[in-house]
Amino acid sequence: MSETDDIFALARRLALEAGAIQRERYETALEIQTKSAAVDLVTEVDRACEALVVSAIEKERPDDAILAEEGSGRDVAGATWRWVIDPLDGTTNFAHGYPRFCVSIGVEREGEAHVGVVYDPLMGELYHAIQGRGAFRGEQAIRVSPETRLDRALLATGFAYDRRDSERDNMRNFGTMLKEARALRRDGSAALDLCYVACGRLDGYWELRLAPWDVAAGGLIVEEAGGRMSDMAGGDAHREGHTVVSSNGAIHDRMLEILEDA
Ligand code: IPD
Ligand code: CA
Ligand code: CA
Repeated sequence: MSETDDIFALARRLALEAGAIQRERYETALEIQTKSAAVDLVTEVDRACEALVVSAIEKERPDDAILAEEGSGRDVAGATWRWVIDPLDGTTNFAHGYPRFCVSIGVEREGEAHVGVVYDPLMGELYHAIQGRGAFRGEQAIRVSPETRLDRALLATGFAYDRRDSERDNMRNFGTMLKEARALRRDGSAALDLCYVACGRLDGYWELRLAPWDVAAGGLIVEEAGGRMSDMAGGDAHREGHTVVSSNGAIHDRMLEILEDA
């Protein structure tokens, strides 16, 4: 087995294990706290999933760097590999018992997205991609949709946690796109939104302020499924997160024409 295969096997195992915690704790009483804003939640399950994933990587891959949302990662100067982890993407959904959340684990090699795993424990769907080897849901290869028209497209978006205070709240884009697309969703898990673009359930998705852990795995899965990831100007975006426009490729330029980075 190559090092890439080892890393994929570890990422897959840890996503399944963290997902099992989420499944067990779904719709149980939770300890919920807030982070950057009153609407930015964290639960004991986010922390438990992160602890499981980070401690296993520390043990099995002691030379690798780790960036993890709840802050338990570690910098390793000159590391070849960096793990970028969202232990529970869709915390608001999870806290409300809304069945849409996942574990997202991306691994970069020398700064480039190399392996991505996203696991939805309620649907039992595990998405993955390895750079240059395509994208999969379970064992099945996935591709983006062939839709070429925005007026027939199903899109998704999301809103950042500072939306009560920031003017950059995505509301104008939401309104414009609502008139242009066939339908629009806000379903609360960026990593799953990206996987849904990758497998053709969605034709496109955008969001103005994502973090690296929201896109590290899903961005690679979209690209390996034949889709496109960019910022609002059409440039490379997903590796640093922030503004992301993701699509099947065919409707991408039309999405960029409509969306404003505001
Ligand atoms: C959030 C979700 C949501 C997106 C937010 C993210 P979290 O991640 O992915 O869909 O709109 O921008 O921060 O906090 O649930 O991991
Ligand atoms: Ca997230
Ligand atoms: Ca999270």
